[in-house]
Amino acid sequence: MATNSLHGSSFLTRPLLFALIVVLVMPETAASASVTHHYTFDIRLQNVTRLCRTKSIPTVNGQFPGPKIIVREGDRIIVKVVNHIKDNVTFHWHGIRQLRSQWADGPSYVTQCPIQTGRSYVYNFTIVGQRGTLWWHAHASWLRVTLYGPLIILPKLGVSYPFPQPYKEVPIMLGEWFNADPEAVVAQALQTGAGPNVSDAYTVNGLPGPTYNCSAKDTFKLRVKPGRTYLLRIINAALNDELFFSIANHTLTVVEADANYVKPFSTSTLLVSPGQTTNVLLSAAPSVPAASAFLISASPYTTARPGTFDNTTVSALLEYQPYNKNLPLVKPTLPLFNDTQTVSNFTAKFRSLNPPVVPREVDRRFFFAVGLGTSPCPRNHTCQGPNGTKFAASINNISFVLPTTALLQAHYSMKTMGVFTTDLPYEPWHEFNYTGTLPNNTFVTFGTKTVMLPYNTSVELVMQGTSIQGAESHPLHLHGHNFYVVGQGFGNYDPENDPIRFNLVDPVQRNTVGVPSAGWVAIRFRADNPGVWLMHCHLDVHLSWGLTMAWVVNDGRLPSQKLPPPPSDLPKC
Ligand code: C2O
Repeated sequence: MATNSLHGSSFLTRPLLFALIVVLVMPETAASASVTHHYTFDIRLQNVTRLCRTKSIPTVNGQFPGPKIIVREGDRIIVKVVNHIKDNVTFHWHGIRQLRSQWADGPSYVTQCPIQTGRSYVYNFTIVGQRGTLWWHAHASWLRVTLYGPLIILPKLGVSYPFPQPYKEVPIMLGEWFNADPEAVVAQALQTGAGPNVSDAYTVNGLPGPTYNCSAKDTFKLRVKPGRTYLLRIINAALNDELFFSIANHTLTVVEADANYVKPFSTSTLLVSPGQTTNVLLSAAPSVPAASAFLISASPYTTARPGTFDNTTVSALLEYQPYNKNLPLVKPTLPLFNDTQTVSNFTAKFRSLNPPVVPREVDRRFFFAVGLGTSPCPRNHTCQGPNGTKFAASINNISFVLPTTALLQAHYSMKTMGVFTTDLPYEPWHEFNYTGTLPNNTFVTFGTKTVMLPYNTSVELVMQGTSIQGAESHPLHLHGHNFYVVGQGFGNYDPENDPIRFNLVDPVQRNTVGVPSAGWVAIRFRADNPGVWLMHCHLDVHLSWGLTMAWVVNDGRLPSQKLPPPPSDLPKC
């Protein structure tokens, strides 16, 4: 029959025939073009000097920030991590879906036991259906503060960007620098129950720049030619701070968020939350302007009390070539640290570029109240958290406790007893005015509770910020999936009226979204990736306090829909 139709062209129109040929030929070319990239990450201490102090920090191969990984869609990445430091470590490839490579996702005690001192583990995964700016970071305790780097996925060979080809591409990694040892900072915070000491500086590509004492020599410089367009791949790798970002006298065009193309829009200020990436086009002025340089600056956004966060501004320099140092330096105006209105105006502008496939039908609805809380001070202790308690954080009042073995291993071997349960409440036990009058008791309950989902479940999740112990914005990150941001608002979510305004036409697709301070956000995703996937606040202090949970996505029926067996070198606990 097929032969008949091919010859008797009455059944096949020319475009159809062409499409058939493309379908037959394409997979071949795509397969032959894909490349395997091998890396070795030696995790070792390295002396690094910032703000005139030299300290020994965990690094990848002695580099800070870590090495760039640049690949193409369809390529395979193989990273052998060898741990030479005293702390346990793991690595996460933030935003990579890990289809059929679930054991390479990396969060410690979730998809794997950590890599112990002197041990190694090979992360082996293929980039399927993704291109754009992502990043990699350590995923154990607070080690990601120095163990991070860009993971850039170029389109397949021969495929161009949906915007004019930039003259150059530059990763801009925003980070956070502590003079103290961050592991000591988190250990002390968890011990005393108090909020942790804050960082001493923010950094651009590892450099604090001229706004800090003794730091002008450690300044990142972006040198541009007049009339050229640059693609900045901005990554917020800071530990605990959402950051505003602006370049003096330059408007930026946002083209991508979390490795998903968006409808281009221009802005003078961005907000990038930890875990998020934003690609912007920077058009250099047509001729050398009358300034020696323009500051590229970032400063925190938070609704927390002053004194509880690092309220400094970091700067790098945008210099035109030829450079004239005798001209003035121009600074941008950044919003006030608590300018929530600017944040919500900005986040409302994101739209998917191509009409996406948003799940229309929802199989399961969840309502998660996310925020801070407290736990009682243990006997014979003095605690320095709110009213002599300890700070905690929770989802539906459950503060997540990491197990001592990996969740994915327990799930795979069906030995989940005593490791985790699947009874995380779908909504809070007691309804309350989440953003208004607060319950008297702010104590959380501790547990390793997850939600189990059948393969391919279409999920709608409303995340409601609470004002318990102060309303704060929470950048929630989902592992193993992208999601659509279909709605957001301030105050309490209204299940009657808010869904009417959901955007199911062109919502942005992301892997990390801010739950607005004293507000809510609604997302949809399809649980099409069997495994155990962490979802957590990407502010590490909140993660340490328990603002996290895991989705257990069961196998589907087809072999390709099943969790593969663990690699033989998977670390043991
Ligand atoms: Cu970038 Cu679980 O994190």
